[in-house]
Amino acid sequence: MIEAILNELEALQHKFEEQIVTVNSANAVEALRIQYLARKGELPQYFKKLGEATPETRPQLGQKLNELRDYFEAALNAKKEQFGQPTRGPKVDLTLPGIPRRLGTRHPLLKTLDEIKSIFIGMGFSVESGPLAETDYYNFEALNIPRNHPSRDMQDTLYLSDPAREEGDIYLLRAHTSPVQVHTMEKQKPPIRIIAPGRVFRKDNLDATHSPVFHQIEGLYVDEGVTMGDLKGVLLAYARKLLGRDIKVRFRPSYFPFTEPSAELDVWFPAKNRWMELLGCGMVNPAVFDMLGIDSEKYTGFAFGMGIERVAMTKYGIDDIRYFYDNDVRFLQQF
Ligand code: DAH
Repeated sequence: MIEAILNELEALQHKFEEQIVTVNSANAVEALRIQYLARKGELPQYFKKLGEATPETRPQLGQKLNELRDYFEAALNAKKEQFGQPTRGPKVDLTLPGIPRRLGTRHPLLKTLDEIKSIFIGMGFSVESGPLAETDYYNFEALNIPRNHPSRDMQDTLYLSDPAREEGDIYLLRAHTSPVQVHTMEKQKPPIRIIAPGRVFRKDNLDATHSPVFHQIEGLYVDEGVTMGDLKGVLLAYARKLLGRDIKVRFRPSYFPFTEPSAELDVWFPAKNRWMELLGCGMVNPAVFDMLGIDSEKYTGFAFGMGIERVAMTKYGIDDIRYFYDNDVRFLQQF
């Protein structure tokens, strides 16, 4: 048995010698030390076998093991001197100043939208969405916008197919979020209480106050017995939550084909000494209900729509809409 072990030890020594000549770094020296000499390494396994050896062979085996251990250690120490200490991860100088972490900030448009949403959600509205590409029917027809209405003009609306086409659907990029009213009333019976934020598209050139892509939020409330008083109460509560309790507002008569009567809600800005338009609104035109199969004798409702950029600009005192889309961190980090 001792013969077999001595043969194995000789093989181990050869293996060690083959490996140690390839060592080329302090870390490789350390790896080899662990492989051969650490507590669970290859050589200590043989020390455990000493106990199993007969009393006659034990001294011979013990001597051989000690020799090998000394030999491995000497060879490893020589290499250690050549390559120095193994590195233990990156060195850290605790006296250096820290590296500041750049925190992202929420985009002012998204912050404004979140705030508007949470005000209406707090009043029992739920959030809906609709497609960005619509047909003429959803963007105009079902909203009682007549064939000759100026907003249908190619100057204003971004068409995806020829608007002069005689048959088949005419596709376009939605020019407002009002089509979501139509989708909602198609699939849901009253009571309806929704808001619908999203992107809208108009054929405008980008300047300080216009963008071909911007954001609106639509609102719709339909139930039995909804009155203009409900409209005023809800929108006044909204304006006060958004801009402060002391805000001065006025409802001004206006015109939209899908509401009758229609109004605009203005807010007084003392700093600028003028009224600013906040949103359009009105009582849902019974013609819209009739088109969508909602009983206009039984149900009434109100709707409203507003541009989110405009709200954010007035809230944060931003005077150029282009800041929202430039993604300049010097602008974005202020919010
Ligand atoms: N869709 C209108 C626009 O883009 C905004 C609007 C006005 C929406 C009155 C409404 C509303 O729902 O009742 O200018």
